[in-house]
Amino acid sequence: MVTMATYTKVFYILIRFWLILGVECYSGGSYHVLTIKSGGSVTIPCHYDEKKPPQKKYWYSDNTLSNIYTNTTEENLSVIDHPDQSLFTVTMRNLQYKDTGDYYCAVETEGQTTITYDLYLRVQSAPDVSVVSSSVSGHEGGNVSVQCFYSFGYKYELKQWCRYKDQSCYTVGRTDTSQRSSVQISDDVRNRSFTVLMTGLRLSDSGWFFCSAGEAMNPVQLTVIEAEPVSVTGTEKDKWRFCLSQN
Ligand SMILES: *[C@@H]1O[C@H](CO)[C@@H](O)[C@H](O)[C@H]1NC(C)=O
Ligand SMILES: *[C@@H]1O[C@H](CO)[C@@H](O)[C@H](O)[C@H]1NC(C)=O
Ligand SMILES: *[C@@H]1O[C@H](CO)[C@@H](O)[C@H](O)[C@H]1NC(C)=O
Ligand SMILES: *[C@@H]1O[C@H](CO)[C@@H](O)[C@H](O)[C@H]1NC(C)=O
Repeated sequence: MVTMATYTKVFYILIRFWLILGVECYSGGSYHVLTIKSGGSVTIPCHYDEKKPPQKKYWYSDNTLSNIYTNTTEENLSVIDHPDQSLFTVTMRNLQYKDTGDYYCAVETEGQTTITYDLYLRVQSAPDVSVVSSSVSGHEGGNVSVQCFYSFGYKYELKQWCRYKDQSCYTVGRTDTSQRSSVQISDDVRNRSFTVLMTGLRLSDSGWFFCSAGEAMNPVQLTVIEAEPVSVTGTEKDKWRFCLSQN
């Protein structure tokens, strides 16, 4: 449940953050809660403007009041830039209860700081929303399915599958994204899980998604593998083999 108190809290945290960094811009959207099992790990994508790549990209922790710039690799934290995908990823490992708190993706372009994404990370004994694997892959034209588990309290919350890049979401039912591709979501209340089936995968479907129940969410990276091109050289070779066997 997102209560007024939570919003008030987020509001004050943002004000605090603005005061610390002198933030001039905030382009983050709704409130996100990421629940992770104690001892677990998570990777979060932070997208940035592909047309105007920022000079500085960093991850800000409200617990330690520190900025971790790209590319940093520490024992329990990596912040890595992927310029080819216009995003940087933040991987947090060995999460402890004390890591619970507010975190932000931020960029600096021409001296102007922008928070591009904010989230509240909560380390719990059992996560509210979880996935078996946070990385899935499928072939171009093929299908991929992701099962997202939710805890009892989220039974009646809205279940969604969203793309990070544009925050577009699909919900329970079937949505045709184009003639040959669709996203189907079926909720299995007894199993406390919902399954997302993406059919007719296109290369452009590659990227970061999250499944969510209410405000609790969990990221998943989808990789679409290019279909093998029809091998012309293969048939050429066969022709030669045929000719040779004729002689
Ligand atoms: C990484 O996490 C482990 C487990 O909590 C901890 O023992 C270790 O000190 C952490 N490493 C750093 C560099 O903080
Ligand atoms: C950071 O790491 C990524 C991935 O390894 C690499 O593509 C990029 O060039 C690196 N950036 C810098 C500034 O070293
Ligand atoms: C993908 O899913 C669709 C719809 O459920 C099904 O008709 C099709 O056979 C599946 N294709 C593959 C390659 O599994
Ligand atoms: C619950 O999920 C498991 C594993 O995905 C599956 O084998 C089982 O059939 C599901 N149960 C129901 C009632 O759908």
